[in-house]
Amino acid sequence: DLPSTFDKPVHIGFIGGTGLSQLDGFKTVAALKPVTPWGAPSSPIFILSHNGFNIAFLARHGVHHQLAPHEVPNRANMAALRHIGVRCVVAFTAVGSLQEEIKPMDFVLPDQAIDRTKGIRPFTFFEKGVVGHVGFADPFDGALAQVIKTCAESLEGDGVVLHDKGTVVCIEGPQFSTRAESNMYRAWGGSVINMSALPEAKLAREAELAYQSICMATDYDCWHSSEDVNVELVIKYMKANSQNAKRLVGAVMERLSKVEHSDLVAAKHWVGYAQGGIQFM
Ligand code: ADE
Repeated sequence: DLPSTFDKPVHIGFIGGTGLSQLDGFKTVAALKPVTPWGAPSSPIFILSHNGFNIAFLARHGVHHQLAPHEVPNRANMAALRHIGVRCVVAFTAVGSLQEEIKPMDFVLPDQAIDRTKGIRPFTFFEKGVVGHVGFADPFDGALAQVIKTCAESLEGDGVVLHDKGTVVCIEGPQFSTRAESNMYRAWGGSVINMSALPEAKLAREAELAYQSICMATDYDCWHSSEDVNVELVIKYMKANSQNAKRLVGAVMERLSKVEHSDLVAAKHWVGYAQGGIQFM
């Protein structure tokens, strides 16, 4: 019964991950169902409204959490967000910790990534005669990270702990890592580990979206002598910290809607898409 159109521009996007599929205080005012040349996104794009500003919300794993990490239609997700006018994306993800000082329930703003996906997931818009290479030396957006950091600092009194840099290792999954792999990722300098950061961040870069992940630690991956990671553990910590996660994300959305974020990304080339796929100037 929600409208399927929305006639105001929406520049801020939020991708909710495991355990963060709603935002308190926001009213859902529309559910857009765009179909892209890469198929339909993971979920409708919900337009959420709060104090007069609007954001686009996408549930990465689907409304019923029916999509495993390797099944997420990342190209459709990014293209659809870009298409409706989104220019910056904050993406939430549960992660395992690879470092003692990153404790379960801590937040991490990664500034680097190591790709351990297996090349199974469609990972580029550039194909079939459209050749392009984007820089990816810094996979996340520093300006967005700064906004998130400021918000986290204002919530420190509420028990929000945020590590403002780190390297996220993205594995293919859906199995968790072996102990040998987990130790190897530590030796590589990994801070946290998940199954969703890539190729999402790569496709965001190709679509000229400013992109930053907020990682929330739900376990110490299996290198640690505490309980080996399992789904129950991830969900337990996700639930335990969901209030803080929602508070942080709510504050970030509000602040982003106020700061002049138009300079966060200069979309020079990516015009949109048509039936044939990506379109450039
Ligand atoms: N997501 C949450 N915890 C994880 C872990 N330990 N490994 C991979 N993905 C995760």
